[in-house]
Amino acid sequence: MRNAEQAACPIHADFDPLSPAFLADPFAILKSLAGEPVFYAPSIDYYVVTRYADTEEVFLDHETYSAAPAQRPLVQLVPEAAQILLAGGHQPQPSMVSLDQPAHTRLRAPTARAFTPRRVEQMEPRIRATVDQLLNSIDPSTPFDLVSTLSFPLPATIIFSFVGIPERDWPQLKEWCGHRATLAWGRPTPDEQVHHARNMAAYRSYLRGFVAAKAHVRDDTFASALLAIHDEDPTSLTYEEIASILYSLTFAGHETTNFLIGNVVRRLLEDPARWDAVVADAALIPGAVHETLRYDPSVPVWRRVTTRPVTLGGVNLPQGAKLFLWLAASGRDASVFPEPETFDLRRANATKTLAFGRGIHYCLGAALGKLEAEIAVEALTKRCPRLRLVEGQPLSFHPNISFRGPEALWVECRT
Ligand code: HEM
Repeated sequence: MRNAEQAACPIHADFDPLSPAFLADPFAILKSLAGEPVFYAPSIDYYVVTRYADTEEVFLDHETYSAAPAQRPLVQLVPEAAQILLAGGHQPQPSMVSLDQPAHTRLRAPTARAFTPRRVEQMEPRIRATVDQLLNSIDPSTPFDLVSTLSFPLPATIIFSFVGIPERDWPQLKEWCGHRATLAWGRPTPDEQVHHARNMAAYRSYLRGFVAAKAHVRDDTFASALLAIHDEDPTSLTYEEIASILYSLTFAGHETTNFLIGNVVRRLLEDPARWDAVVADAALIPGAVHETLRYDPSVPVWRRVTTRPVTLGGVNLPQGAKLFLWLAASGRDASVFPEPETFDLRRANATKTLAFGRGIHYCLGAALGKLEAEIAVEALTKRCPRLRLVEGQPLSFHPNISFRGPEALWVECRT
């Protein structure tokens, strides 16, 4: 039953972020809306927040806006699936990004300690070598799918090797990440929920076993750096918490960056003049990555819930209101980004994007993700300066609310 406060809020009964029309072109849907800062979407039972300032306010006020729903399944889980998750040690707030303080800090602080800027810098030669190796496998005389060739395997290779996961287990981890995306951010049927839940339980169990084994065989990986922090004071960071941190990173470091690279290349090639500009001047590449994060972010939506009644964007929200922070819409807010529909390689304030969040949960991997995208684009400009999209290809997008990029992107190296 909706109460009087909610009645003051505009309602868009036909807004459904998992509809085929939305998945195909969310920006067309954004344009067709009346421009309300906040509206209620019954299809998902969330309040949609569209403006930059309101979204930023939510991110910065972590007491009024809890991160609890960040990874919560969008659909009500059937009891069997919920039970499998709980039995597998998967709580409703399963890892750092959905925890509020002080539980959040307990995990974020050691992660930040082990995930130092120096460690990220040290990744650069490995990223370059991996990009080269992946691009060596293409035949430049025929069209190739950029996603399966480069953008999907690159971040997986980088994050899994950074963490220390043995290479033989990478395909399995990639598969588990797919189950995780659909269960938490998609609309699976009851049977699919059970299937995904079993895989999630297996994923968590694998990581627990991995941490236990790694404790005896230390090396120079991120997992070992966390174990060293555990050794200093075992009560401040338990093995279970280390497994939880690895659960965060093995997923967050993968699809986000895969889709970022796909989106950057798509948006550059959509207008060959953009591509030609970055080929002529590699110094434009970091700006191209930021502009893509504003114009077409790989994480277009993130979630929060109100901990008290509050007014946001002029709308009175009750306690417990679930918020769909439409980050992609905040990037098109003309009050912050003039002419937001124009993809501008030289946009002065593109770095202001909220694509990595803000505040205490600000993305820990932002520097790594951007570095991977920059190196990938730079290598492509060198190898295929006349790269073009294969014309007429239909693009498809995985049916979930929070991770967006083309599932395949066919390109050709014209001579
Ligand atoms: C490159 C594209 C990426 C995008 C667009 C992205 C976006 C985001 C967003 C929107 C959040 C939530 C922020 C919030 O709640 O305020 C987040 C959190 C996080 N990201 Fe990323 N991310 C990316 C890459 C990565 C990479 C490569 C890693 C790891 C290596 C990573 C690790 C994390 C972690 C651990 C958090 C949780 C931080 C916390 O709760 O304190 N991300 N990211």
